[in-house]
Amino acid sequence: MWSHCTLRRLYSLLSAKMLVWKPADKDEIEDMVKAFESVGNYALAHNKLEEDTAFPFIAEQDPKFKEAIKAIEADHKKFTQDWNAIQPQVQAIAKLTPGTGQDQIAALAAKVKEITEFVFKLFAEEEKICLPFMVNIPKDKQQKLGKTIEELSRKDENSKFFFCAMMDASKHDKEMAETFKKETPWFARTMFSAIFLKKEYGWFQKVVEI
Ligand SMILES: [Fe+2]
Repeated sequence: MWSHCTLRRLYSLLSAKMLVWKPADKDEIEDMVKAFESVGNYALAHNKLEEDTAFPFIAEQDPKFKEAIKAIEADHKKFTQDWNAIQPQVQAIAKLTPGTGQDQIAALAAKVKEITEFVFKLFAEEEKICLPFMVNIPKDKQQKLGKTIEELSRKDENSKFFFCAMMDASKHDKEMAETFKKETPWFARTMFSAIFLKKEYGWFQKVVEI
């Protein structure tokens, strides 16, 4: 659920900024395009992890889950389609010069707002469906799934951004902060130092800050 917490924050930040965004220079435009890419990569990787690893694992424990999750799988497809559909608009933003293209930015901002609302609805639905199944799974099996997901996330080429975003989100969510502190291995907490966070994630914080 850390990823849901984190992605809710990433989409909220991106969407809120786009609604008021007036790029000051070319670097800021470049960073905004990179922000779309990073947030999208995270969301797509998260959905894939659920589809390939988490959902089959839960279905193995209780076959009724397969039926329960059908609507979510359809919503994952819709998310991918909607996200891919705005990529030409994102690429058009990349070609803008500061002070131009406010109409294009506003059109993209409206789309991102819709997608953000959809992400919130999707995650609420996933949690509603998955949690009753998860609580029936023995603790050791739940931990095994958690470990598998963590290892797969680490292998992702964008893992640095994912973990930095998680660290940041945990600072803004009390419940997540408590479990994150307890369950992240010591090296994640020490290696992801303030300097590392600034280097790998500072650009994102700067471009979405209002
Ligand atoms: Fe999810």
